[in-house]
Amino acid sequence: MQTSAPGKLILCGEHAVVYQRPAIAIPLRDVRATITIAPAAPGSGLTVKAPELRAVWRLQAQEPLSALASMTLDYLKLAEPDVELTIASALPIASGMGSGAAVGTALVRALAYVAGRTLDAASIAELVYTSERAFHGTPSGIDNTVVAYEQPIWFQRQAAGPPLIAPLEVGGPWTLVVADTGVASSTHAVVGDLRARWQADPAPYERSFDAVAALVVQVRAALGGSDGAALGALLNRNHELLVELGVSAAQLDTLVAAARSAGAWGAKMSGAGWGGVMLALVAPAIAATVAEALRTAGAARTWITHLERTP
Ligand code: PMV
Repeated sequence: MQTSAPGKLILCGEHAVVYQRPAIAIPLRDVRATITIAPAAPGSGLTVKAPELRAVWRLQAQEPLSALASMTLDYLKLAEPDVELTIASALPIASGMGSGAAVGTALVRALAYVAGRTLDAASIAELVYTSERAFHGTPSGIDNTVVAYEQPIWFQRQAAGPPLIAPLEVGGPWTLVVADTGVASSTHAVVGDLRARWQADPAPYERSFDAVAALVVQVRAALGGSDGAALGALLNRNHELLVELGVSAAQLDTLVAAARSAGAWGAKMSGAGWGGVMLALVAPAIAATVAEALRTAGAARTWITHLERTP
């Protein structure tokens, strides 16, 4: 038996989302983390294996996945089962594609399966968020939410109470080319650096966050329509604001420029920045050409993905 969860991309609004502005995220349905569940000898307890990382964890380890597993067993009121969970993930780590949230979500689903239960998206997102907060500071919660819901979402933190989460209408259909700079980046470090600069001088950052929020509103409308050039222009503008916020990087700017030169309607970095991935919105006919241009410009890996029209 296997469980899985998708990767994700932030289409518009990263960083500003930490400061209670809205953001839009989409699942990457065809790039997933998978967990294989196998029974283990009686009394052997729970083992989590990540062969790609050459890692093996037991339940008591001081490590994010072990902590999430303990929390999930408590939530399910399930005693430690005798099972072996093996992780395989197609998502690069620390790259803005939601690898941590995808593995966490697949893990919660695996333990729910062992308990003979199916958990709803909100409960899964909450469990993964609680464990991410324990190990990664103050994430907005957008990653675990879009991964657990597995649909395009509008996400906005509130001053108090739960975040506003709404599924979005998708027009298009849209084709995206995603490219990884190959530079791993710590979300915690980038978010912390921006927070320190915002604390020292909030006004210009607040203005940029408001400009991002206005764009996110426009992106929601454009995403529901079918004008690629219009949606692309908004993504371009979001990239410029992220550059102003000091979270882009030379490699990201190079890939964004290469995608635009190759004919993309728009391109931007996606996620925390300083490394990780960028995305380009393209006409389907030029997707392969844009992916090739991105690899020529230095991308370590590229993916072509589609956002289907909502019925
Ligand atoms: O995990 P990443 O790299 O996709 O970054 C998350 C997006 C941020 O807005 C930068 C942080 C957050 O918690 O929302």
